[in-house]
Amino acid sequence: MNITQELVTHHGVLRQLFEQSKTNIAVADDFLRNLIVHHTMEEKYFYDLLEQETQAHEKALEAVNEHHIIELIIKDLERFPRDHERFAIKVESLGEYTSHHLDEEEAIIFPMAEQLFPQDSQATLGALFAQAKAMLLGIKLPPVPGKAGAKAAKSIVGAKKKEAPVKAAPAGAKALPPDLGIGSLRK
Ligand SMILES: [Fe+2]
Ligand SMILES: [Fe+2]
Repeated sequence: MNITQELVTHHGVLRQLFEQSKTNIAVADDFLRNLIVHHTMEEKYFYDLLEQETQAHEKALEAVNEHHIIELIIKDLERFPRDHERFAIKVESLGEYTSHHLDEEEAIIFPMAEQLFPQDSQATLGALFAQAKAMLLGIKLPPVPGKAGAKAAKSIVGAKKKEAPVKAAPAGAKALPPDLGIGSLRK
């Protein structure tokens, strides 16, 4: 997938985690972790390059400034115990602000980048973003699809019988490096 496709796919995960956090506040930490990784890597593999394009320069600066506002809200959230009544309210505000940011990227900024970036660069950046995201959030193996999948899964399970069971880490459970944050990789 190219870089904008990768980013849109991860936007889907962010939207889903935000929705889930409205009814289950325990999901909020996973939402925050994905948000930090998304924006830090989006700056490194997308906005640092888009800023260099004259036609998109201002839009790129605006978007990165919105990342900075999101970062401030996340920092504020870190002060609150997860069961504090204001924590859920603040997650809600963060999610609403973020949704607006994601919508604008998809409607205005990504189509701009698709016109400006060479095709091969879009593919390379997409691969780098996907790799960085997998390293930071933990790699999730895709499910085996359909009937053939059930057969294949059976043989995999059979072959693994003698091995010690492998415990899958819950999604997003991997701790982020302590110095990783939105803006932390920018010059
Ligand atoms: Fe963004
Ligand atoms: Fe984004």
